[in-house]
Amino acid sequence: MPLAALQLDYGNVLDTAIGQAHGLSVAEIERAAPEVRQIIERVESERKAGQHRYRELPHDKALLKQVQAAVRRYAGRFDNLVVLGIGGSALGNIALQTALNPAYHNVLPAAKRRGPRLFVMDNVDPMQLGSLLDVLGTGLRKTLFNVISKSGETAETAAQFLIIRDLLLRKLGSKGLTKNILVTTDPEGGTMRGIVDAEGFDALAVPPGVGGRFSVLSAVGLFSAGMCGIKIDKLLVGAAAMGARVGNPEVAQNPAAMLALLLHAFYVRGKRLHVMMPYSYALKDLADWWRQLWAESLGKQQDLQGQPVTVGPTPIKALGATDQHSQVQLYREGPSDKVFIFLEVGKFARDVKIPRAKGLPDDLSYLQGQSLAKLLSAEKRATEYALVASQRPCLTIRFPVVSEETVGQFIMLWEAATTLAGGLLNINPYDQPAVQTGKVFTFALMGKKGYEKQAAEFAEFAGRGGEARVIR
Ligand code: PA5
Repeated sequence: MPLAALQLDYGNVLDTAIGQAHGLSVAEIERAAPEVRQIIERVESERKAGQHRYRELPHDKALLKQVQAAVRRYAGRFDNLVVLGIGGSALGNIALQTALNPAYHNVLPAAKRRGPRLFVMDNVDPMQLGSLLDVLGTGLRKTLFNVISKSGETAETAAQFLIIRDLLLRKLGSKGLTKNILVTTDPEGGTMRGIVDAEGFDALAVPPGVGGRFSVLSAVGLFSAGMCGIKIDKLLVGAAAMGARVGNPEVAQNPAAMLALLLHAFYVRGKRLHVMMPYSYALKDLADWWRQLWAESLGKQQDLQGQPVTVGPTPIKALGATDQHSQVQLYREGPSDKVFIFLEVGKFARDVKIPRAKGLPDDLSYLQGQSLAKLLSAEKRATEYALVASQRPCLTIRFPVVSEETVGQFIMLWEAATTLAGGLLNINPYDQPAVQTGKVFTFALMGKKGYEKQAAEFAEFAGRGGEARVIR
């Protein structure tokens, strides 16, 4: 069966009135194409030299086999799967689960689920973790913990690991510890790798050269997805199909290039807020995953020549129709500093009919006999029309259906668009020095050895009143 291809519809962005309102013409977009083409060609040749490793993940048969074997080792043995990770080590897992399993997967009876309940702990809020431990309660023996940390150093994940390790040791003894923990980390270095070797944990590898937010199609995202019944081979088929499209030097045929080009063109014209608004509950956490990818990759203070810059669009996630009643007033009448990226579903896997009803006021008759999918689609089209009529640029990514194949395409589409947008902004999309700074000062504040200098620097900042401007 041919692959249901994801579509990028940017017709409304090129609407003449919108172009005029923002000083952007079709001719200008065409003039920008050769620069984008050059970036595509550079990226494709750098791939041959081993860069942009995330692009190779869909073709890595050994990786797929390894994850499938791990899924086979654990499938059917656990009622709960708990992912301990944060940022790029969590958001993809959440996104895949929301997109490809029922909205209320965890509360379905086991016979109706395709795998264990999935909990992704991407915070160190004691109330949240405490509550999860209450839920797991006596079911600890039937709970698998997948500790995911590429660096193996992140304080949040390390703290969670210590808590769970202690709990398992106390409740299940050392056998439970190795039976109930699977670690996904760097295959060669880092604290977590050392612990894996010392304690004999089962482990999966985060492939070298693939950064956290680009790692969802590696063991990082694929293991929990596979455990929960998601067809991970099909995800990779979708990603590979998009991989072929995003390498195309013909900019007008390349959806990642068009996204990067258009969003960059609006960015330099002051539309620096990028709103992704899925009209599908299943796609809402993919918008969250994208928010990290776009923000952490493109928000930079140094360009590729080492010169100071302050660049980066601000990604915002919204959900249709929910946020029509929360955000759209601002989006339509507030500052025109945004570009809207709608996600639309052609055919939902199921629909719910709105029944006919007797004896109710005529006001509600327009809904009767229709369906929720039709209503949701009308809401999207109406909102888009309202925004376009106010000269707000809108584009749409259309999922013919929400499936492993289309979700895989979406992931690869945005990862590649991020690389190209990084090229247009002339920055490195793969580093995250500001996140690193936060990590380092957390170490210092928690008394980690080797971070005494940062602790002293922070004490001086706090002494200056940096932390103490409080209104009581
Ligand atoms: O994209 C990134 O690099 C980050 O968001 C990381 O994924 C996040 O900080 C967690 O890092 P680690 O997997 O090393 O624990």
